[in-house]
Amino acid sequence: MPPGVLKPDYFVIQVLGIIAFGVASSFGTVYDRFEDVPLVKYDFIVVGGGTAGNVIANRLTENPSFNVLVLESGPSNEGVLNSIVPFFVTELEGTDYDWNYTTSPQAALNGRKLAYTRGHILGGSSSINGMAYTRGSSSDFDRFATVTGDSGWSWDNLQPYIHKNERWTVPTDNHNTAEQFNRSVHGLYGVNSVSLNGYPQPTDHRVIQATLELHNEFPFNKDMNSGDPLGVGWLQSTIDHGRRSSSATSYLGPEYDARSNLHVLLHVRVTRVLQTNSTGSMPAFRTVEFISESTSKRRALQVTASKEIILSAGAIGTPHILLHSGIGDRKQLRAVGIKSLVHLPSVGKNLSDHPALNNAWFVNSNDTLDNITNNATLKAELLQQWKDHKTGPLGQYIASHIAWSRISEQSSILSTFPDPSAGSNSPHFEIIILNTGPSSVSDKTPMHFITLVTIVVTPAARGAIHLRTNNPFDPPVINPALLTSQFDIFAMREAVKAGRRFLSARAWKDYIIGPAGALANATTDELLDQYIRDGAFSAYHPVGTASMSVKGADYGVVDPDLLVKGVSGLRIVDASILPFITCGHTQAPTYIIAERAADLIKDAWGCL
Ligand SMILES: Cc1cc2nc3c(=O)[nH]c(=O)nc-3n(C[C@H](O)[C@H](O)[C@H](O)COP(=O)(O)OP(=O)(O)OC[C@H]3O[C@@H](n4cnc5c(N)ncnc54)[C@H](O)[C@@H]3O)c2cc1C
Ligand SMILES: *[C@@H]1O[C@H](CO)[C@@H](O)[C@H](O)[C@H]1NC(C)=O
Ligand SMILES: *[C@@H]1O[C@H](CO)[C@@H](O)[C@H](O)[C@H]1NC(C)=O
Ligand SMILES: *[C@@H]1O[C@H](CO)[C@@H](O)[C@H](O)[C@H]1NC(C)=O
Ligand SMILES: *[C@@H]1O[C@H](CO)[C@@H](O)[C@H](O)[C@H]1NC(C)=O
Ligand SMILES: *[C@@H]1O[C@H](CO)[C@@H](O)[C@H](O)[C@H]1NC(C)=O
Ligand SMILES: *[C@@H]1O[C@H](CO)[C@@H](O)[C@H](O)[C@H]1NC(C)=O
Ligand SMILES: *[C@@H]1O[C@H](CO)[C@@H](O)[C@H](O)[C@H]1NC(C)=O
Ligand SMILES: *[C@@H]1O[C@H](CO)[C@@H](O)[C@H](O)[C@H]1NC(C)=O
Repeated sequence: MPPGVLKPDYFVIQVLGIIAFGVASSFGTVYDRFEDVPLVKYDFIVVGGGTAGNVIANRLTENPSFNVLVLESGPSNEGVLNSIVPFFVTELEGTDYDWNYTTSPQAALNGRKLAYTRGHILGGSSSINGMAYTRGSSSDFDRFATVTGDSGWSWDNLQPYIHKNERWTVPTDNHNTAEQFNRSVHGLYGVNSVSLNGYPQPTDHRVIQATLELHNEFPFNKDMNSGDPLGVGWLQSTIDHGRRSSSATSYLGPEYDARSNLHVLLHVRVTRVLQTNSTGSMPAFRTVEFISESTSKRRALQVTASKEIILSAGAIGTPHILLHSGIGDRKQLRAVGIKSLVHLPSVGKNLSDHPALNNAWFVNSNDTLDNITNNATLKAELLQQWKDHKTGPLGQYIASHIAWSRISEQSSILSTFPDPSAGSNSPHFEIIILNTGPSSVSDKTPMHFITLVTIVVTPAARGAIHLRTNNPFDPPVINPALLTSQFDIFAMREAVKAGRRFLSARAWKDYIIGPAGALANATTDELLDQYIRDGAFSAYHPVGTASMSVKGADYGVVDPDLLVKGVSGLRIVDASILPFITCGHTQAPTYIIAERAADLIKDAWGCL
């Protein structure tokens, strides 16, 4: 079979009947039906049109001689209102745009199974996430450079890639933002829009007042994306004039649509990568096996790249595909009846994620975003305003500020436990400040809240994903092992206490009425632990399941150039390659590594 030709191989994996497909997408290069994709030689096949995958597709097709095919399981992002309107982000969980994963019972969370949302839509998780734009700390990236032995991953050396990604954008509702960010640390001419919130919240001045009052513990930080995030600052989000900016709206935006060498096929589930040729002693994996939902029967189809396959299926999808392809721990694969082709025990291991918790207080105000949640008439009015002008509170996410902090150096835990953070400018936890109640408390109750979302951003716990069966349509067992480390539960407890201290500033006098829900009972350390284990959930930031390590290391999945160890023709570019979780939300780091990866690939094929 000549490389690059799409060809059914008549091996029916599963016949699940006819699956309807929608009308053709308005993008010339985005196809709903596999039958419509041109049969040409593909140099690169990108598996997953998500956050990282679309960066790769965009950058490689800058070279007109590279033909690129992206295979994405989800539908188009076009016209999906809940994805476009920032305020509606919570409406996306458990829909067609979510893979609907559930974790295994979480040992440290009283055996609860948690929803584990992942984007199933063009743009991947960037089309459904909370849009917070946080790069992490400089020491996060410097640690990547150290553990991989590649100085190209250091904070300083990644600056050009931060700038290639970021397009600083002014918010829609005009107000003075000069004191809310430091222009000199931002990229003005990149692809993906980043902006401050356009719509001021009535709580904003209290937050700023509290930073002045409590400046020792909660100093004001003019820009949390300078590499030094500690302190309290104004949130920046991937929002473009009141609309979500995702990898689909930006990297696959209309200006790239005209590229005749860029092809994106939707509604196809990649099941495996297949061994093609051997290059010396290295087996080559340049063929992708997938199932198209637009064919009348679910047949396994194949397509082969002449240069490389790039796996960008995310921290769950990528190890899932590798394991089904026989790339993983030999013994574990045998146990589920999969022939081991490449013994790489680290595939799916070292899953790292951020545990989160909602803490709510009743407030003495009627001026909170609970208004919108609880009032359908108001919501409809605001949607009309958004449709007419892209202004108002729906054009942004519900947070305006984040506090980033470290546990005290005198903490008992640090005498028994190595500090898991990358360096002293990395926070151990964050507190997101919301002028609203969490849905679990505010549900239909006409009351008003402030919520502090506490998140442990340097967790020591490591989880894993593994296979239940050899059927690629079965979801993997996902165990983020949240709060299973002593350090993590300690840090979460400290985060809640820090939140209480923050609200005890005079700035909140006569505003805070008292803790809401179970928080009211969490009066001792023991009860606090119980409250945390009952309420914690995932921030949906999994990384590390196909981690980078030094070339030649006996652990890790990819080399620092992101090529899979021990094979040729196969690279991984997504959040799964991060060897440690960053101390901030993970989309910005994913964009940054993808921008550098695109250059590594161009360099490998002689066109940088
Ligand atoms: C609900 C939610 C909220 C979040 N909030 C924030 C936030 O506010 N700020 C932040 O920085 N980060 C946030 N994150 C995390 C951030 O979005 C992710 O870390 C980042 O987008 C990961 O990018 P990725 O390229 O690794 O994977 P993804 O963007 O998830 O892309 C993977 C793509 O591969 C596709 N795929 C997977 N398997 C297959 C297969 N077998 N065949 C074909 N296609 C496949 C998927 O459909 C998807 O499109 C959030 C995540 C979620 C889910
Ligand atoms: C997720 O679950 C919802 C509700 O059951 C369903 O409508 C949706 O199709 C599911 N998503 C996927 C990708 O199957
Ligand atoms: C803004 O960033 C520049 C470059 O990092 C730095 O030199 C300067 O001190 C920063 N300004 C403020 C107010 O933080
Ligand atoms: C496989 O190897 C043959 C002979 O070396 C070569 O002609 C062909 O292009 C290779 N195919 C791929 C997909 O690399
Ligand atoms: C997990 O990561 C650590 C480094 O943080 C490494 O030492 C260990 O070998 C990894 N484990 C696996 C199974 O890859
Ligand atoms: C909030 O609204 C209610 C009902 O209109 C009113 O009784 C109450 O005084 C208001 N509270 C504040 C703080 O304005
Ligand atoms: C909420 O409603 C009250 C009246 O009930 C109004 O005064 C206030 O401005 C509203 N706040 C928001 C954020 O919509
Ligand atoms: C709901 O919103 C509408 C429109 O702003 C307003 O007129 C009405 O008073 C609100 N209802 C309540 C119960 O606050
Ligand atoms: C607080 O504790 C009391 C006594 O144990 C219990 O009755 C009550 O339900 C608890 N409240 C919440 C909100 O959990």
